Amino acid sequence: MKDKTLLMIPGPIEFTPEVLRAMGTSTVSHVSPGFIECFGQALERLRQVFLCPGGQPFVIAGSGTLAMDIAAANLVEPGDEALVVNTGYFGDRFGTILERYGATVTHVRAPVIGDAPTLEDVEAALKEHRYKLMTITHVDTSTAVCTDVKGLAALGAGLGALVVVDGVCAVAGEEMRQEEWSIDLALTASQKAIGVPPGLALVVAGSRAMEAFRNRKAPVSNYYADWNEWLPIMEGYEARQPRYFGTPPVNLIRALNVSLDQILEEGMEARFARHRRLSEAVKAAIAALGLRQVPVSPDKTATTLTAPYYPPGVDRKMLGYVKEAGVVLAGGLHPDIKTQYFRIGHMGAASASDILATVGAIEKGLSQAGYHFKPGTGLAAAQAVLMA
Ligand SMILES: Cc1ncc(COP(=O)(O)O)c(C=O)c1O
Repeated sequence: MKDKTLLMIPGPIEFTPEVLRAMGTSTVSHVSPGFIECFGQALERLRQVFLCPGGQPFVIAGSGTLAMDIAAANLVEPGDEALVVNTGYFGDRFGTILERYGATVTHVRAPVIGDAPTLEDVEAALKEHRYKLMTITHVDTSTAVCTDVKGLAALGAGLGALVVVDGVCAVAGEEMRQEEWSIDLALTASQKAIGVPPGLALVVAGSRAMEAFRNRKAPVSNYYADWNEWLPIMEGYEARQPRYFGTPPVNLIRALNVSLDQILEEGMEARFARHRRLSEAVKAAIAALGLRQVPVSPDKTATTLTAPYYPPGVDRKMLGYVKEAGVVLAGGLHPDIKTQYFRIGHMGAASASDILATVGAIEKGLSQAGYHFKPGTGLAAAQAVLMA
């Protein structure tokens, strides 16, 4: 028996063999010519993946939370007003981080979990105060709610707020066009749709964000996150002239360069389309099995993950049965509904056969948990989408 389970959680995800090989090669000096070229290429490719040709990329050892911390530490000064477009757990987290750097934070939320605030609500909030910055969670991994980043960013940019997008569960999966959509800073982490094991905080800052940073009056109050330290490093490696601040995570950056190359080889448009198709297949299966989802409507739903409620009489024990069938899924995360739903990640290198294997394992788990349905119902619905 092959001792391998399929990891279908919303990060970390399954990685390609080429990426894993790059992780496993012997570690070279961070100032060796091969690594300098690799880091330089990764920075150039990051701009292309974020669709931000004029942006300044930062690749720093840490997780997605560090990327949020970097955005707040460098853009917020004590006394600034910040608006958080909040669609779940990670909106709350961004609010807490912004407050830590001295911002006064206002949250705009929809009345129900699984919904997003309307553009009208956000516009009204933006008109109430002079906000220095607004944050948008592209996909809140706790609710699978996807926000209208394009519409929200246009509002923020039009009303003078710096637009910061938490794209941790989105970048390289959900459609995002940083420069065209007037997003001043977008951030993610390596372990999701970027397709690299956990450990890299990835940030691309546009010209308005860099200008706001340069015009700061107060010093950056976080030593490790300070762009004054990191900007020369990123500019140096891109000019193929290494500089030192903190030792770069050599193997992770090599793996990042491999993955970014694979992403660009697929092409951003094809990648967005593949994520949409796989997501539709999962969601069709979930609907055919009679399960409701946390997002209130299809236009509020992520393509990188699906968050179904357990059907009546079924609870998280079902995830154990799904695991026995070879697929690892995630439980709930949003504190208010944590025990009522589960999460299926389908991003990065996920394929049609991964989706069918996952739906098959979900059917097995539901059946073992005592839920009644005609076996194959979900599989047929998923296959119909995948074959269309
Ligand atoms: C939307 C979102 N933001 C931020 C984070 C935090 O990232 P990390 O867990 O890598 O610190 C996550 C993690 O899942 C996330 O999904």
